[in-house]
Amino acid sequence: MNPSRQRILVIGACGQIGVELTLALRQIHGGNDVIASDLRDEHVLLRGTGPYVGLDVMNKEMLHVLVIRHNITQIYLLAAILSATGEKSPGLAWHINMQSLIHVLEIAKEEGLHRIYWPSSIAVFGPSSPRQSTPQHTTIEPSTVYGISKFAGERWCEYYHRKFGVDVRSLRYPGLISYKSEPGGGTTDYAVEIFHQAIRQGSYTCFLGPETFLPMMYMPDAIRATIELMQADPSRITVRSSYNLSAMSFSPAGIAEAIQKHIPGFRISYAADYRQQIADSWPQSIDDREARQDWGWKPRYDLPAMVADMLKNLDGGSAGSQNV
Ligand code: NAD
Ligand code: SER
Repeated sequence: MNPSRQRILVIGACGQIGVELTLALRQIHGGNDVIASDLRDEHVLLRGTGPYVGLDVMNKEMLHVLVIRHNITQIYLLAAILSATGEKSPGLAWHINMQSLIHVLEIAKEEGLHRIYWPSSIAVFGPSSPRQSTPQHTTIEPSTVYGISKFAGERWCEYYHRKFGVDVRSLRYPGLISYKSEPGGGTTDYAVEIFHQAIRQGSYTCFLGPETFLPMMYMPDAIRATIELMQADPSRITVRSSYNLSAMSFSPAGIAEAIQKHIPGFRISYAADYRQQIADSWPQSIDDREARQDWGWKPRYDLPAMVADMLKNLDGGSAGSQNV
């Protein structure tokens, strides 16, 4: 095999990030060299774009065989239980989020894999962290099982890098907003649901209160950040736990106002549920200066640009983009 050729396995390829990341990686590396895998049936947008295998990442032997059989050199591990689902099944969230990562790191060590990607989250921060411009290095005491698992995962990534030389890289994604695939059980999912309801019904009842500010990012920025991090020379990666990453910060009232500029009749109401407590434990904005300095990170989408693009893609522009 050509030594510079990469054979990539994406685990959790049918999820909110996995679909778009797999398609982007196939653009770069070619369809056949990017193997998509998931517990679920193949996502409709992946069909015909490259190989697909059913995989339970909790089955280490099966994963190991797959890595050897397909000459895998890089793994993107996206399978996880997210924050809201995690609070309903804490034991399951801990088990899946931790064990999947250990399986991948162990196989990377044993097989000498070239590079691993595993995402962390702003959920590593808890109520004792600064809430505004939360820095890379600060008090980290997460209060959700999802955040605890992400924080422990970050420590494992740094450990496997330092102790065994595994080139594992990670980003603390903010809440991600996308139109191609559905979100999978997070606290920030409202920022995707609101678009679908605005277009279908002209109204939305939000499960977070109006002034709940959270860090957010549009999916094209998140995919570009992931690829830029993975393409960076190893000498530029100074954070081996997980990089803070930032683009925008808004509240439900703020995004509703931005949508109303396109759909003037859109109405939002509020019925906060258990997810409010999760959101209240997280930062409102993030300081990502290490990512900017080390490998040149810069977001392209702010709130108005993201809202215009979401509505254009979900509704073909008929939601009133002439009002921008
Ligand atoms: P998702 O829930 O949409 O997708 C996860 C995928 O993993 C699903 O398709 C699911 O079927 C699959 N999966 C679950 N268990 C599996 C198993 N045992 N074996 C194989 N596949 C399995 O999640 P996502 O939003 O795409 O998130 C991907 C990663 O990014 C996760 O680690 C998540 O914590 C992280 N993240 C996401 C966000 C966000 O806003 N979406 C923010 C921060 C971090
Ligand atoms: N968007 C994710 C969630 O809400 C944050 O990691 O769970």
